[in-house]
Amino acid sequence: SSSKILIKGGTVVNAHHQEIADVYVEDGIIAAVKPNIKVGDDVTVLDATGKFVMPGGIDPHTHLAMEFMGTETIDDYFSGQAAALAGGTTMHIDFVIPVKGSLSAGFEAYVGKAKKACMDYGFHMAITKWDETVSKEMEIMVKEKGINSFKFFLAYKGALMVNDELLLEGLKKCKSLGALAMVHAENGDAVFEGQKRMIELGITGPEGHALSRPAVLEGEATARAIRLAAFVNTPLYIVHVMSIDAMEEIATARKSGQRVIGEPVVSGLVLDDSGLWDPDFITAAKFVMSPPIRESGHGKLSKLACQQGFCRITKNLVGTDHCPFNSTQKAFGIDDFRKIPNGVNGIEERMHLVWDTMVESGQISITDYVRITSTECARIFNIYPRKGAILVGSDADIIILNPNSSFEISATSHHSRLDTNVFEGIRGKGKVEVTIARGRIVWENGQLKVAPGEGKYVEMRPFSYLFGGIDKADAKYLSSLRAPVKRFKATT
Ligand code: URP
Ligand code: ZN
Ligand code: ZN
Ligand code: ZN
Repeated sequence: SSSKILIKGGTVVNAHHQEIADVYVEDGIIAAVKPNIKVGDDVTVLDATGKFVMPGGIDPHTHLAMEFMGTETIDDYFSGQAAALAGGTTMHIDFVIPVKGSLSAGFEAYVGKAKKACMDYGFHMAITKWDETVSKEMEIMVKEKGINSFKFFLAYKGALMVNDELLLEGLKKCKSLGALAMVHAENGDAVFEGQKRMIELGITGPEGHALSRPAVLEGEATARAIRLAAFVNTPLYIVHVMSIDAMEEIATARKSGQRVIGEPVVSGLVLDDSGLWDPDFITAAKFVMSPPIRESGHGKLSKLACQQGFCRITKNLVGTDHCPFNSTQKAFGIDDFRKIPNGVNGIEERMHLVWDTMVESGQISITDYVRITSTECARIFNIYPRKGAILVGSDADIIILNPNSSFEISATSHHSRLDTNVFEGIRGKGKVEVTIARGRIVWENGQLKVAPGEGKYVEMRPFSYLFGGIDKADAKYLSSLRAPVKRFKATT
């Protein structure tokens, strides 16, 4: 089948460069990028004059159809991905949770869930216990199943949490396989203690969630994970960075040349914790996630501090941690905040919120926008330049963003199955008007055109640039980049 598309007259933006050009797409691949491309009448022409033509977003952190805290996230691979496409994201990397500690059983379960995919996706895998079998299965995942990243939870005591001994084994194994170790950095033992203290004080509502796990516990676990990764000498990726404490640990490590990636999420950059104090339980409970959304105001812990910290320190990429639970599920914790399923939405909102919060406000450039929403993720997980770029030969994952149009977020109009939205009522400038996913126009004129089964699994190979395994395309790309990324030392 040949679906041919010409995007005319837009400003084509890549992470390293922007220029006015046409983009010609054939059979799901970008076939040409240059001015004044002439085509026949069998080609669909989209006029992008005055608009930005950019790589589709890649969300590095989501949880679709995940069993967690006695229930399952409300978006499955179809609804969550449809929402993503409506918001300009064309690929995501989801976390496979092992089944009773078995990685292969977890992998098969997620292959099943993903049968209804309408968007391209990849997998990370969580490691929740340690023995010879797990160690062997990690090898199989990397060498045969297309997984090159593993997440270790330093929180969720009694459930997903691992101790330092397991983390060290995991770091060593990741290093030997060329896979990237990821950590959820909060001190789970201290959080457990903090939760007990809140309950003893009679604080059982959603605000107790944030009070029980302050930023100092995120800073501690971040510092510990960074130092253990330095000890093992392997790269580290900190997921959902939610505080300046954590960002400063990352900054210190990066200054000394350590290969550490920090992943803030939109909820942390855009929201503050004021909602957690809402007298209505559901209104408050929808904001419960871990690490928690930090305090309001202009202090050191505010979202503004996090935005500035992001610009000054990490500036790698922004994820969502999309992990949606409906009001009925959030209500499990009506008498005890410890039972509120942890997680907020974001997969549909990320591209708009990052544009409005970071680009419209003048904090980052448009090329940086592309880098932090798409290109950097593709590079870290070793799928660049197939993904994350508008280059000849790349997958045709493309968005057209109109900077003069505006968006408004509401549960009444979003495409997720969620009955609430943590970003309810937020308006801003910059609207994704068209989304093209591997050459299919899936979002146009406010209409989604998607079908289950259209999304493909994207295998991710080991030894990304973080390990010094740089191929020619990466080397050329690296040399075109500015300071922060160049600082990484390639080691073997
Ligand atoms: O609250 C959160 N973040 N839920 C999703 C699970 C995780 O820790 O990423
Ligand atoms: Zn160019
Ligand atoms: Zn986590
Ligand atoms: Zn998560």
